[in-house]
Formats: sequence, C-alpha cells, structure tokens
Amino acid sequence: MSVRQIREPRAMQRTGLGWKREGKVVGLVPTMGYLHEGHLSLLHWARERCDILVLSIFVNPTQFGPAEDLDNYPSDLARDMALAQECGVDVLFAPRTDAMYNPDHGTWVTVPDLTRHLCGSSRPIHFRGVATVVCKLFNLVQPSFSVFGEKDWQQLAVIRKMVRELDMPVRVEGRPIVREADGLAMSSRNVYMTPEERSAAPHIQKGLGLLENLVRSGERDPKVLREAVLAYYAEHLPMGRLDYLELVDPWRIEPVTRIGAEVLAAVAMHMGASRLIDNRLIVLGS
Ligand code: PAF
Repeated sequence: MSVRQIREPRAMQRTGLGWKREGKVVGLVPTMGYLHEGHLSLLHWARERCDILVLSIFVNPTQFGPAEDLDNYPSDLARDMALAQECGVDVLFAPRTDAMYNPDHGTWVTVPDLTRHLCGSSRPIHFRGVATVVCKLFNLVQPSFSVFGEKDWQQLAVIRKMVRELDMPVRVEGRPIVREADGLAMSSRNVYMTPEERSAAPHIQKGLGLLENLVRSGERDPKVLREAVLAYYAEHLPMGRLDYLELVDPWRIEPVTRIGAEVLAAVAMHMGASRLIDNRLIVLGS
C-alpha cells in the first residue's frame, strides 16, 4: 500500500476525527523530516502498536530563533516518502507553513517551569514553538499516542507536562537515543559537519560516559564532574564550542547541587555549522 499524503490541516483533522469515530488506534510520529535511523526506530515501534500510523513532516518556523538554521534545515521529501513507505506509514501529513500559521498567529503554549535551563535558556522561544506546534498536530491528527526520541529529553518533558496539565487525550511515549556505530547520537543536523568535525563528534557522548564513570565511582559534586568533562572536551574537541553542560534533575529540569538517585547529564555543543545535543540519564543502583 502506498503512503497517502495529506497537506491540508482541515483535511487531516476531518480524517483524524473519522478514525476516532471508528475507534481506530492512531500512532503519530511528529518530525521535521530528513529522516534518519532515530526517526525510523520511532516509526517501527509505533507501527507495531497502532491501526493507523501517521508521520508528520513540518519544519516548524516558530521553534527557530532569528539566528538559527531554519532556512538551511535539510530536507528531502522524496527520500522521506520512500522511507515512510518502508516503515509502513499509512499517512504522511506535510502541511505548508502558511496553512499552519496565519500571519497574525498569536496563541502560544508555554511550559515555563521546565524551560529555564538547558536548551530553554540558550534558545528562549524554542519550547514555546515546540509545545504550540505539537498541540496543533495533536488537534489535527487526533492520535491515540505519539512517540518522541529521548535525545530531546527536555522536549519530551515539556510535551508530557503540556499533555498532563491541559488534559489532552494522547499518550506520550519516549524512546531511547539511537546512535551511529561510533556513538554519535543520530540527528538530521549531523550532515552539516565537516569530516574532521564528524570524526571528533563522538567525544561529546564519551565525555558523558566519563561523567557517569565518575558518578559510579562515588563522585557526588556536580562542579567536580562538570570540570572533569570540560577538561575532556578541551582536550578532545578543541573545535567544539560548548553551549551548555549541565547536571539536572531529570523530571524538574533544574540543576542539582548534589548527585542523588537520578541525574540527567545534558550537553549542547556547536560543531561548525551544527548544534548537537546529547544526554545521559544516570540512575544509581542500576
Ligand atoms: O523533535 C522534532 O523534530 C520537533 O521539535 C517536533 C517535535 C517535530 C516539533 O516540531
């Protein structure tokens, strides 16, 4: 069966409401396209759990700041279509920007409590754009559940809180980070890197591995842990420009002053034209 393409938001909503009336289980994987193995793993996981699988591809302008890579965001709809077909997608929803946002759009969903740190601090309007577009996608597709990758841990936390606090009838599922063979977290933005940057980039997650080893050997001071990883990055990633490296409570996304039972180490690093993020959840006793 070929993938049905829907471009009009109203047509998507009519279709979604129809599925709901028929009692279908609908799975939604929201993306900005240029699919990689990480997206495909979400699609495969969802495919096994729903009657109708929807992939949305929309490069959402409201989550990009003025100096960010919206205009250069990689895209290849034909390739994405072929991959969607291989993954058993039923419907590809790929709306045009002007159909999603009127020029005078002025309604936003914000989740301030979870967005003071990490990407929320370096990309001030980012999560407002993400929460708003995901809310719109949920209203249009009417999914039973929606799946997101844990690479964007803070995004997942924001979406979960939005759904819980605004009583949205959607189950939010998080899935583990998918990595290249050398450990680099998969990202559509990996293609911007030069070969030299690409070969150094796995050190981003190796730094987080070093941090985990120190925690497991008994180090509990976030300052000491941060210094150790910064020294590692200075030695192994001299071309990287750190945006942040923080140790936060994984659920409140607030910095910790002492390592407790669970901590999330999260990093964002500019490598040339790419801004890469990665994270590691450390659960003591596991
Ligand atoms: O993670 C992404 O690709 C985007 O932030 C999302 C969730 C599709 C919203 O635009």
